[in-house]
Amino acid sequence: MADGMAPERNAQFREMLEGSKEDWDIIAQHAKSFNKGLSKRVLSHLELLDGDYGGFPIDRLEHSLQTATRAHRDGRDEEYVVCALLHDIGDTLGSYNHPDVAAAILKPFVSEENHWMVANHGIFQGYYFFHHLGLDRNMREAFKDHPYYERTAQFCHLYDQNAFDADYESEPLSFFEPMVERVFSRPRRSIYLNKNASAAAKSATD
Ligand SMILES: [Fe+2]
Ligand SMILES: [Fe+2]
Repeated sequence: MADGMAPERNAQFREMLEGSKEDWDIIAQHAKSFNKGLSKRVLSHLELLDGDYGGFPIDRLEHSLQTATRAHRDGRDEEYVVCALLHDIGDTLGSYNHPDVAAAILKPFVSEENHWMVANHGIFQGYYFFHHLGLDRNMREAFKDHPYYERTAQFCHLYDQNAFDADYESEPLSFFEPMVERVFSRPRRSIYLNKNASAAAKSATD
């Protein structure tokens, strides 16, 4: 993956079997600075939703801002608000499974309950419209005994299903930028983390 470094600073192997400690030190060094830009890349991707209405009364970026603003104004913590902001980021690439995309992006940085909430919000949001499409609006009942059922049902009810109001005044994306930056600066769950370094050479497998 290109990150602007000169070729002479790159690892020399043709296949990983030849890789040396020196090669991997170089790669780890690149990953360190590349990973610092993650929140900006995520926000740039979110901005692809700008102008994407898909038939809805407001575009998908505005919906995302409204969901996050509602959660924030309701006193939710920063991690929750970031989940709210990014919950539909998968709409551009995950036409048939958009919650999975958001959940995968957020997974290293958020609690298990917030991750589950984002990963499953599509089924819970379906309560509000699946019946109009010939689907089962009660699909969420498959999770009725799950410990995060209530949390996810609440997210959709309080912040997501009602975030299509063209008259609502949301905070701008810049308001949420520092929050996203902070949440994405603290990876907790990743196979590329070790106890000696905050992030190992993740980009090696790209
Ligand atoms: Fe969604
Ligand atoms: Fe949504």
